[in-house]
Amino acid sequence: MVVRSALRHAAFKPALGMLLLAPLAYLVWGAAMDALGPNPAETLIRSTGELALRGLCLALAVTPLRVMTGWPEWARLRRMLGLIAFTYAVLHLLCYGWLDMGFEWGEIARDIAKRPFILVGMLTFVILLALALTSFNAAIRRLGARKWQLLHRGVYAAAGLAVLHFFWMRAGKNNFGDVAVYGGILSALLGWRVWRFYTNRSNSKVSNADSRSRIR
Ligand code: HEM
Repeated sequence: MVVRSALRHAAFKPALGMLLLAPLAYLVWGAAMDALGPNPAETLIRSTGELALRGLCLALAVTPLRVMTGWPEWARLRRMLGLIAFTYAVLHLLCYGWLDMGFEWGEIARDIAKRPFILVGMLTFVILLALALTSFNAAIRRLGARKWQLLHRGVYAAAGLAVLHFFWMRAGKNNFGDVAVYGGILSALLGWRVWRFYTNRSNSKVSNADSRSRIR
C-alpha cells in the first residue's frame, strides 16, 4: 500500500510537520511584506485561530484512522499534530494580546468580562497548555499511564470549547458556515469514539457471557 509505505518512511513525519507549518511561514512573510490585506491584525488573529482548530481536528483524526486502517504507524503523528495545534494557539493568543490589546492587561481583563467568547478561548488555551506541557515521555512516567490518559482526555473538552469559542464569535456576525463545517468534523470524530466505546462494551459483555456459558 502506497499510503502505508509513505507513513513508514522516516521523512514522512518531518515533511508533514513542515507542510503544516507552511501557513505560518506565509503569515510571517505576508506581515513582513505588508501583504495581509487591509486589516493584517485581524488576518493574523483569525488565521492562527483557524489553524489551531485544524490542528486539533487532525490530532483527533489519528485514532479513528489507526483503528479503521489497522495501521499503528498513524499513532506516531499524534504528538506532533497536537503540538502544532498548540503552537498556532500560542501564536493566536500572542497576536490577540499584542495586536488587539497592546499587552494592556487591564484592557484584556475588561475584554474577557465583556466578551464571553474570549473567556472560552482562554479556557481552551489553558487545557491545551496542560496537554502540551505533559506531552513528553517523562511526564507520562511521572504522572503514571492512568492519570496521564485521564488528563489527555481533556483534548475532547478543548475541541468542544474551541468550536463554542468560534460559534460565539460568529454569533455576533450571524455567519455560521465555517463553524458548521468544523462542528460537523469534530462531532464525527468524537461521535465515532462514543460509538466505539459502546460497541466495545457490548461486545465484551457478549464474549464474557459466552465464556461463562462455556465454563458452565
Ligand atoms: C488563548 C485564548 C484565546 C483568545 C484570547 C482568543 C481570541 C480570539 C479573537 C479575538 C478572535 C477574533 C475575533 C474577531 O475577529 O472578531 C478569535 C477567533 C478565533 N479563535 Fe480564538 N482565542 C483564544 C483561543 C483560541 C483557541 C485555543 C482556538 C482553537 C483551538 C481558537 C480558535 C479560534 C477560531 C477558529 C477563530 C475564528 C477564526 C475565523 O474567523 O476564521 N481560539 N479568537
